[in-house]
Amino acid sequence: MDDRLVSGESEQNEDRFEFSLRPQTIKQYIGQDKVKHNLEVFIEAAKMREETLDHVLLYGPPGLGKTTLAAVIANEMGVNMKTTSGPAIERPGDLAAVLTALEPGDVLFIDEIHRLPRAIEEVLYPAMEDFCLDIVIGTGPSARSVRLDLPPFTLVGATTRAGALSAPLRDRFGVLCRLEYYNEDQLNEIVKRTAAILRTEIDPVAARELARRSRGTPRIANRLLRRVRDFAQVKSDGNISSTLSKEALDLLQVDQLGLDHIDHKLLRGIIERFRGGPVGLDTIAASIGEESHTIEDVYEPYLLQIGFLQRTPRGRIVTHLVYEHFQLEVPAN
Ligand code: ADE
Repeated sequence: MDDRLVSGESEQNEDRFEFSLRPQTIKQYIGQDKVKHNLEVFIEAAKMREETLDHVLLYGPPGLGKTTLAAVIANEMGVNMKTTSGPAIERPGDLAAVLTALEPGDVLFIDEIHRLPRAIEEVLYPAMEDFCLDIVIGTGPSARSVRLDLPPFTLVGATTRAGALSAPLRDRFGVLCRLEYYNEDQLNEIVKRTAAILRTEIDPVAARELARRSRGTPRIANRLLRRVRDFAQVKSDGNISSTLSKEALDLLQVDQLGLDHIDHKLLRGIIERFRGGPVGLDTIAASIGEESHTIEDVYEPYLLQIGFLQRTPRGRIVTHLVYEHFQLEVPAN
């Protein structure tokens, strides 16, 4: 089959290094306690009944561990995971190829599932509901439909936008899990765990500093840790001290709250060009030269979470917290 469509764990289009840092079991997975607890029950029940786990939808901002959790689910169920993504599946035949290659019990992970074209979603409905595939053979008057049986499988879908999924697709998932931003203690544990895997000594104060500046996001925590480790290796003895981590984070332009230069450009842009808003998403995006989708999916969710941005029917506004953060005077209305 076309490698573009699906990959096993080992060949994923993933940085191997990143992959080796990932937890394999629910016990090793830090944070998301409610989601983990529910999944533990559903996995155990499915195993007791010797059935596949019901289809699972994981949703939430990027970098919170949706792919990792899908792999943990497959591992805990004792099955293989095959991975594909919404944008990789362009034609109904692409999805048919992925589905017919599944082994009984497999987890099929579809990342960015909200980007599946509607016509293809329809192929997925009978596959999810009855483990079968309706394919049309031939064209014109001689066309006929053939029903193929599929092995039982678990679909794990991941999306940053549950709202962008069509209602019929959303309704076919038996388990819906919303991943939340991590708190500082959880990120601190993740930083220490990753440092231990990388065999890097890290001062507890430095680990806290990284946790505090990671925007509630493990992917960012691990990325900052690797960059700070580079500084430690080149500029020092390889150990991450608290002074070194502070200096490195400043050089990386990550501020006290973990905001980077794009967050700054966005927030300052709204203040300087639109008097703090309200301003529409597309207008801000065009004015700072970023994609609307990137702002909406990657930057905005955290800024909303920490109360720096608000969405109103007339557009986005920055709050007084932003003026305080940048030590600017709050304008009188
Ligand atoms: N690495 C990235 N995310 C993690 C998590 N939630 N738990 C443990 N290690 C991680």
